[in-house]
Amino acid sequence: MFNLILELISFPEISFFVLILIFLKLARLVAAFPVSWGLSLFNVKVFIMSVSVLVGVQWGDEGKGKIIDVLTKDAGMVVRFQGGNNAGHTVENGKEHFVLHLIPSGILRQGVPCVIANGVVVDPVELVKEMNMLTARGVDVSGIQLGTRCQLIMPWHKLIDAFREDNAKGEKKIGTTKRGIGPAYCSKAERTGIRGIEMADAARFEKRFREEADAYNKMYVPFGGEKLDVEAAWKEVSAAADVLRPYLTDTVVTVNEANRKGVHVLLEGAQGAFLDIDHGTYPYVTSSNTTSGGACTGTGLAPRTISCVWGVLKAYSTRVGEGPFPTELDNAEGEFLRQKGGEFGATTGRPRRCGWLDAVSCRHSCLVNGVDYLAITKLDVLDDLDEIKICTAYRIGDKVVTGFPEDVYDLNRVEPVYETMPGWKTSTTGVLAWNDLPENAQKYLLRIAELVDSKIGIVSVGPDRAQTFRV
Ligand code: IMP
Repeated sequence: MFNLILELISFPEISFFVLILIFLKLARLVAAFPVSWGLSLFNVKVFIMSVSVLVGVQWGDEGKGKIIDVLTKDAGMVVRFQGGNNAGHTVENGKEHFVLHLIPSGILRQGVPCVIANGVVVDPVELVKEMNMLTARGVDVSGIQLGTRCQLIMPWHKLIDAFREDNAKGEKKIGTTKRGIGPAYCSKAERTGIRGIEMADAARFEKRFREEADAYNKMYVPFGGEKLDVEAAWKEVSAAADVLRPYLTDTVVTVNEANRKGVHVLLEGAQGAFLDIDHGTYPYVTSSNTTSGGACTGTGLAPRTISCVWGVLKAYSTRVGEGPFPTELDNAEGEFLRQKGGEFGATTGRPRRCGWLDAVSCRHSCLVNGVDYLAITKLDVLDDLDEIKICTAYRIGDKVVTGFPEDVYDLNRVEPVYETMPGWKTSTTGVLAWNDLPENAQKYLLRIAELVDSKIGIVSVGPDRAQTFRV
């Protein structure tokens, strides 16, 4: 066999082919760990289609903000591609604590252009508030690019969201953030939405605003919807539009140009795989594609440009809002995770539902996302536990399944099948290298990687930037 390989390699065409394969493999490594790895490997900048996507592989709140902040150190541009100000990305930069809803977490690293791309729904008033908050705290927001194709969240979208949610009964409640996200995506699909570019011309924007605001009052008020005070709403929205006008950019062009120039572009997802409108626990989902595929439509980058997918996975599970959650712990253990992990919504302040890690669902979402590397967060929250459970299968009636059911009806009645692992009972908050982790913590992480069929790239052991190491 060995001789045969040697003989084959002696053919120039075949050895050239082998060289190409090795080069592509190395290029992929460089793309995943750009700049520093690129330089140390070759001492030259080698960038090939260096676009990475970062997504949550659970129900959101995995700690994506912190990992984006860490990866931004090696990025030349950070791009948010879906969702809106329903997200709450928390970042601690060693001195301060920031919660961002719309602006990419990369804004906290000086000089990195931060793009809000076309897949995002943007509430102009809330965006201006977030920019003002950052400016007041000394953060430079001049590098923000607001996509001209973004759909705008308008005041009536928020009223519709609240109206539907407050009037929904029992299992019809989704538990939305009431930020107008769903109704804004609805307007996009109905083709009545207003896009960022329409703010460029104040008179055109006002006409569109008044038309749609009047349509809302005609359609919803007779059925009990809150009447929109159009004048007051226009005053607030037009003031925000005046601030945002200079930031409007054809981001499809700027993001593609950056990629062509070899800038490492980091695409930042919000929420998590099981809130994806197609792949999540429908209908208990948000209204956008939160999985990695959404990064292409949400930015205008072609699929072939993406070289690496980071899946952020919390070392246990949480969910906010309604919907199935197989490993939920409605007991003292769940309360322990909530308190120790600070599991309260960064956007709404709602207590998050907590439970053990669900490897069945995570394996499915790693598959859908095509996760190359996992960033496992909040390992330290488990430091004090005697035993830790991982759900490895679901029991449905008398059947045990390891695939993720596509129907919430089944998901609501699955019983988790657990594997129990010993805890490590040692603080990991100061650990900065894999070899310094307690053995049982290493075993827990490796078991997760094995069950979800992905490699570990980063481990996070606390909220601060510094409490993170590469594997
Ligand atoms: P919406 O996105 O506000 O329409 O809410 C739909 C569902 O997604 C609700 O269950 C929300 O709690 C959930 N959701 C939306 N954004 C986030 C997030 O950033 N983290 C966790 N859950 C979220």
